Amino acid sequence: MTEETTLRNDLVRYGRLLYDRRLAHGSAGNLSVRLSDGAILVTPTNSSLGFLEATRISKVSPTGELLSGDPPSKEAFFHLAVYEERPQARAVVHLHSTYSVAVSCLCHEQTDDILPPLTAYHVMRVGKLPLLKYFRPGDRALAEAVRGAARDHRSMMLANHGPIVSGRTLDEAVNAYEELEETAKLFFILGDRKIAPLGLDAVAEINDVFGS
Ligand code: 13P
Repeated sequence: MTEETTLRNDLVRYGRLLYDRRLAHGSAGNLSVRLSDGAILVTPTNSSLGFLEATRISKVSPTGELLSGDPPSKEAFFHLAVYEERPQARAVVHLHSTYSVAVSCLCHEQTDDILPPLTAYHVMRVGKLPLLKYFRPGDRALAEAVRGAARDHRSMMLANHGPIVSGRTLDEAVNAYEELEETAKLFFILGDRKIAPLGLDAVAEINDVFGS
């Protein structure tokens, strides 16, 4: 099987998995992977991630032209911005999952890292989570904001919208996304209780040992 066929099938499989786990609903969210030649495969606009068809997935050039498949996600441009800034990234996951979106709707005192390091896996898989200001879905200005954050972050949160998470593989990006959603859920379960997040030393040790 060619790289492209394998990755088309992976997008269908992971789309269904995310939909079945209720991390994606309706036609919200978009996924992409980067091919070795620099083009990306991205989910078509207005498609439900639970019902993707491999042959209809959009193939888009690094400069944003549609090469084949259905019209691409209106947010394909921010996927391209992440790939441009993160040469090691080969997959991007953007969803509107409930707990993460709830975090994106809160007032945050600082925007450098909007979730506390509650667990080691959050630090390992998600890392720091900066908040980007609100843009209308599909607004081209969003790409530039995403580009700025992607330089130093594999994960970021769009205000009143949802997270963008990248990884070296689709598997890695999906695992990181799921970890983020679980941390967001823990954050709300903990509520007003006095939280004991990991300390700076513990975070530094995790980053040293796991290279995150
Ligand atoms: P698309 O259907 O164009 O991918 O948009 C969905 C979405 O998640 C907007 O934020």
